[in-house]
Amino acid sequence: MSTERTRCGEPRATDAGKWMVIYGWVDRRRDHGGLIFLDIRDTSGIVQVVVNPATAPSVHDALQNVRLEWVVRIEGELRLRDAKNINQNRETGEVELHATACSVLSQAKTPPFPVNEDSEVDEKLRLQYRYLDLRRTRLQRTLKARAGFINGLREAMNEQNFVEIETPMMVRATPEGARDYLVPSRVFPGSVYALPQSPQIYKQLCMVAGFDRYFQMAHCMRDEDLRADRQPEFTQLDIEMSFVDEDDVFAALERTIAYAWHKSGFRGSIPTPFPRLTHADSMRRFGADKPDTRFGMELCDLTEVARTSGFRVFAEAVAKSGMVKALCVKSGADMHRTHIEGELTDVVKGLGAKGLAYLWNTADGWQGHIVKFFSEADLSAIGDICGATVGDAVLMVADRSSVVSAALGALRNHLGRQLHLYDPERIDILWVTDFPLFEQDEATGQVSPTHHPFTQIHPDDIDRLDSEPLSVRSRAYDIVINGREVGSGSIRITDPVMQRRVFRAIGIDDDEAQRKFGFLLDAFEYGVPPHGGFAAGIDRLVMEGLGEENIRDVVAFPKNQQAQELMTMAPAPVDDSQLKELGIQLRRPRA
Ligand code: AMO
Ligand code: AMP
Repeated sequence: MSTERTRCGEPRATDAGKWMVIYGWVDRRRDHGGLIFLDIRDTSGIVQVVVNPATAPSVHDALQNVRLEWVVRIEGELRLRDAKNINQNRETGEVELHATACSVLSQAKTPPFPVNEDSEVDEKLRLQYRYLDLRRTRLQRTLKARAGFINGLREAMNEQNFVEIETPMMVRATPEGARDYLVPSRVFPGSVYALPQSPQIYKQLCMVAGFDRYFQMAHCMRDEDLRADRQPEFTQLDIEMSFVDEDDVFAALERTIAYAWHKSGFRGSIPTPFPRLTHADSMRRFGADKPDTRFGMELCDLTEVARTSGFRVFAEAVAKSGMVKALCVKSGADMHRTHIEGELTDVVKGLGAKGLAYLWNTADGWQGHIVKFFSEADLSAIGDICGATVGDAVLMVADRSSVVSAALGALRNHLGRQLHLYDPERIDILWVTDFPLFEQDEATGQVSPTHHPFTQIHPDDIDRLDSEPLSVRSRAYDIVINGREVGSGSIRITDPVMQRRVFRAIGIDDDEAQRKFGFLLDAFEYGVPPHGGFAAGIDRLVMEGLGEENIRDVVAFPKNQQAQELMTMAPAPVDDSQLKELGIQLRRPRA
């Protein structure tokens, strides 16, 4: 039946007089002096249908009781509307279809929320009836834009001679640092497959296999705490390249992302090459490894002034090898004390700071709760270092450097939003490079890779690998957009000896390395090309491109904060017989 079909969004004034058949859902219905007006919607748009009881009595009878969301086929003649009835807001607004035949293809219950408008609806209900939510204009538009973006990425990859290779979904555990989702084996009771957290190892093995440019739209699964930009399953544009250094990887990605971004009409514009910032500079200037560079208000270092100041809190922090840093809030002298001591102090305390000190630079000189501890010379030095002129406020945190950065980094983002310091439609993209090789869990002291254990060491830092591992930089890099990490990658280790050294540094001895990653270490003995790669989070890129705040709004069938899919109600209990077949006995019986 579809060969005869015109899509609802297509008819134009130039088609007037043509015979047409449309299929779609009833979007609206109006009754007017015997005439029935129906708006019929499909994914391409909406067209108005007129049913006239005088000229088409059988159609009128058939559609007498038609209600919203019924599915219909309507046949008729396209006519121009009277000038006074033209709807300028709709592409089909100059025409209407005068029905001469119709069939009702299916009826619909009253939907639990309006489908024909993008009104606010409780998210739980939207997720439960996702197929109706997806029928609404907003998600229709989003998913088409997402598809267009992915098409663009694929086109750019193909054009640059990347080969698309699918890697398996049932694998040995992959080391991206999250918990695995496990799939028990029936054939080997007690053994499991893991769902891949990423195709990391397979793509490196593709390099050993000689495919020197690999890509994949990779589905990844990670059992981790969910946030507004995290789903338990998500999609990466995953790439790997041989015989390259950072510049080659960066160029390929810049070209690909910029092409797809502009092609799919995402907001803002993306310049190439992307600016670059080292991790150390990013932490120093923005207190974050994913800086929001849409606005200034960079961190200022007051450690030297603080060292000799009379403010005990500051001097003591510096004496303990800590530091004092500040944000200068332009025109912030009118910020109220209660705002600083309440909301803003809570922000920094949430990141482990002990407090937030402040000074106002006013026409009557410096003011604030701690002004008495500083000499005129100190105050003038603070003003100079922070660029604080009359009318500005200076907000300060003293602590260990990691706490100071985290606290002021978060406060900076908070104030950026609150004080409207940037244009929300602007897109700022950049590379952050030279990440530390390792990070340390403050609670357990456990050292783990900042990126993953296959990341190469910065060549200037190799001699410190054993003596000062936490000071060693790596060849890992991220792409950041508007303060959000949207992708990560690195140049990889290809020397099995070095790979074992890195495993040892994170507490994986040679035996365990051989057991877990023996296939990779072995593969490296058979001619491995130097290689590196990257994975871009497609969901997050689409969020930024469309200005969506929540990842669930760019995923067709997302999971909620508890990793449940509310439409099918997954996860769900399984039959005992199925568990038995898998050799699984539940520890606690189900209630
Ligand atoms: P990484 O673990 O940094 O690197 O992931 C790369 C990018 O994937 C996206 N991402 C997510 N998106 C939504 N929900 C999640 N739970 C989630 N987790 C990650 C982010 C992130 O920047 N194999 C390496 C890449 C490489 O080295 O080539 C990897 O997966 O945008
Ligand atoms: P206290 O001496 O603890 O009463 O603190 C005096 C003021 O300094 C309060 O406004 C605290 O919020 C602030 N303050 C305390 N500790 C710090 C710190 N580590 N960094 C910045 N301000 C602090």
